[in-house]
Amino acid sequence: MRMAVLSDIHEGLNRKNTGADIMAILKKWITSYSPEVFVIGGDMTAGTEKSLNLLNQLQNACPDTRLLFVHGNHDVYSENSKAAYEILLQFPGNLGNGPVELNPDWVVIGDGGWYDYTFGVEGFTEEQFSKGKFNDFTWPDKSLAHWLKSDQAATTRYLEKLEGWLCDYQGKNIIMVTHVVPFSRFILKKNDPSWDFFNAMMGSARFGELALKYGVKKYIFGHIHTRYHEQHNGIDIVCNPLGYYPHEWNSATAEEEIFSTIKVLEI
Ligand SMILES: [Fe+2]
Ligand SMILES: [Fe+2]
Repeated sequence: MRMAVLSDIHEGLNRKNTGADIMAILKKWITSYSPEVFVIGGDMTAGTEKSLNLLNQLQNACPDTRLLFVHGNHDVYSENSKAAYEILLQFPGNLGNGPVELNPDWVVIGDGGWYDYTFGVEGFTEEQFSKGKFNDFTWPDKSLAHWLKSDQAATTRYLEKLEGWLCDYQGKNIIMVTHVVPFSRFILKKNDPSWDFFNAMMGSARFGELALKYGVKKYIFGHIHTRYHEQHNGIDIVCNPLGYYPHEWNSATAEEEIFSTIKVLEI
């Protein structure tokens, strides 16, 4: 079984900045390669209804490929992010609805996840991280996502949900998916506080702890716009973001970048 992986499509910004029809390119890729499963790892676009519509359109256009999705932080930009989270569950392939059994051996378990500052560098207080402001820059989620509870409490809710599902599927080959980062190995430290401060908002080590506790075979995530595919702690780890045009891209056109970036795993 072939499973395609891509995250951080950021459809709105990349369409505006390239002038290309990003969704048409994705549809073209899926139609030519027809993988059985396509995992979209969050940050489809900014705004819940837009993300939901794009996912439904793509799934309807490509009925032979099962789209699986976890939301990113940009997908829940809303006055009420919990309500936005619920709206996105209307997409049938949203892993927040529950585990998806691919076959008798393999199951996919995931949800968007959030961050709890476990990747925060030393020298800052929890209060500073919760305000998310360093010098003149405020982390955009602080003004655009609203959980009506702390970041830590939002993260804990995901951890509890995921652990319940992981527990149910012990003994299966598990592919775990979150938008946020599960291991500090993938957090880039620049020894520059104007960068490192925001590492607190990249994910949570507790997702990685869950993956190890339940012996997951593969872990797919995004959020950081750096691509990785490696073995780490005995887990096949894939972080495969499209990221922002132009500075995070390697190709001149959207079609070249998307076609060369989508990763296909053989399950
Ligand atoms: Fe992103
Ligand atoms: Fe993100």
